[in-house]
This record gives sequence, structure tokens and C-alpha cells, in this order.
Amino acid sequence: MRVAVIGGTGLVGRHTVDALRAGGHDAVAVSRRSGVDLSTGEGLDAALDGVEAVIDVCNTNATDRAEVERFFAAETENLLAAEQRAGVGHHVLLSIAGVDSVTGNAHYAGKRVQQAMVSDGAIPWTIVAATQFYEFGAMVAGWTRDGDRAVVPPLLMQPIAVVDVAATLVEVAVGRPLGRLIEIAGPDTHDLVDMTRRTLTARGDQVRLVASWRGGPLGVEMAGEVLLPGDGARIAATTFEDWLAGQPG
Ligand SMILES: NC(=O)c1ccc[n+]([C@@H]2O[C@H](COP(=O)([O-])OP(=O)(O)OC[C@H]3O[C@@H](n4cnc5c(N)ncnc54)[C@H](OP(=O)(O)O)[C@@H]3O)[C@@H](O)[C@H]2O)c1
Repeated sequence: MRVAVIGGTGLVGRHTVDALRAGGHDAVAVSRRSGVDLSTGEGLDAALDGVEAVIDVCNTNATDRAEVERFFAAETENLLAAEQRAGVGHHVLLSIAGVDSVTGNAHYAGKRVQQAMVSDGAIPWTIVAATQFYEFGAMVAGWTRDGDRAVVPPLLMQPIAVVDVAATLVEVAVGRPLGRLIEIAGPDTHDLVDMTRRTLTARGDQVRLVASWRGGPLGVEMAGEVLLPGDGARIAATTFEDWLAGQPG
């Protein structure tokens, strides 16, 4: 099957393109590097030529809520319109578990815009809502790092390996559209501070971590069990320890 991966050069996108090709599918990696600008729609019609299913894993670095919402609204509108012109039969969106419970986070607000547009749109769809990736600890420390110190909030999560996210996206995309959201998570719960410390130690990075809900973009409304998957979530196999063992030292 010919499948377009929107954001195919990013962290999830690269693994998704690899998983599609390993499964014998024809993967089209779509991003600015391939001449497509999702914000304007430029290049999308050519990129979707002959495509039967689309997996949207694009992202924005914006942190301002209105800017994030504008990005995801524009890219989803341009993408769904181009899919309709191309006769695409299945739109698969990667979202995040718990976006409806966390209203103050700018990125989550953008993901809610995407989810609403996809589920109200004309293209048959499936939304895959994943928990945080194992890379999340290092990512958060990177946002708040100041010299040898970084602030990391003590989030309770059930994170997942990106390879497992990619495998699920491919399995879903080549199947029939479900018209609903499914959740995916890793096998164990973790505390973000502990996960970050173990990741940075494995990489030989000496950073003093300060556990706090203040001084970063992840607010205290993310405390408790709001980020944990629901009862019906699919549980992937790769553990944090498996993932950590594969990190460059
Ligand atoms: N981090 C987590 O723990 C987590 C958990 C669950 C779900 N997610 C979701 O996973 C998704 C993917 O995240 P990621 O870390 O893989 O993102 P990423 O590495 O930042 O990749 C983003 C991709 O989007 C493309 N892109 C950005 N702006 C574009 C534009 N205007 N036109 C065309 N392409 C554009 C980028 O390529 P170019 O720069 O070449 O354009 C790149 O391929 C996000 O939607 C995020 O919400 C993340």
C-alpha cells in the first residue's frame, strides 16, 4: 500500500517510514525537506499522488497557545483538503493520551484542534493517542536546562518506545478506518524525574535535576493520574530498560 507519512523526517516519522518499508509498503516521507509546506499546502497534491492512507505525525516547536493552534488547524485543513482531492481512504492522526484532561498546556490545545477537525472531517479516520515517549525526559531537561541544572516536573506517566508507536501507526493505517480513538502505552509507569536522571546518566551527561512544577511548560494540572492511559489501552512490549540499553553512551 502507498502511505504518506506527514512529518516523515521527524522522530516518529522516520521510524514510521522504516516500519512501512519493512512491511513491504510504499512510504512517502512528507515534510519541508521534501518540498511540502503544511502551513500553506504547497506541494501536498504532488506528494499525495496515488496515496491510499495518510499518517500525520507532524509537529511544531511553537509554545504560544494561539500559534500552536493555528499551526495544527492550518496543516490539518490543508492536509484533509488535499486528501479529498487525491481520494485518500484513511487518515491516521497521532495524538497524545490525556489531551482532554489537561486544558492549560499549549501543545495539548493544538492536539485537541487536530482531533476535532479529523473526527469531524470527510476522510475516514483513526486517532492513535500515545503516552509520552521514552525520549521525553531528555527533551524536558533540554527545555529548562540552565548550565548544569534543569527543572523537571515529577510527572507520573506510562511512557512508550517510539518504535512501538510507529509499528501501531502502520498496523492501523493499512487496516480499515476505525472512526474512533485508540490509546497506546508502554508496559510500566514511571516518574519523569527518575526517567530523566537515568537517561542523562546513561548518556554521560552531568546535570543536576530539580524536581518542580514551576519554571517549565508542564503545569501542576498534569499531576496525579491524568497522563495515564485508560483501561482499554493497548500495551506495547518495549520497556524503558530495553530502550535505555540501546542509547548511545
Ligand atoms: N513527545 C512525546 O512524548 C509525544 C507523545 C505522544 C504524541 N506525540 C506527538 O508526536 C508527533 C510527532 O512528534 P515528533 O517528536 O516526531 O516531531 P519532530 O521530530 O519535531 O518532527 C516534526 C516533523 O514535522 C515536519 N514539519 C514541521 N513543520 C512542517 C511544515 N510547516 N511543513 C511540513 N512539514 C513540517 C518536520 O519536518 P521539516 O522540519 O523537514 O519540515 C518533521 O518531519 C507530534 O504531533 C506530537 O504531538 C509526542
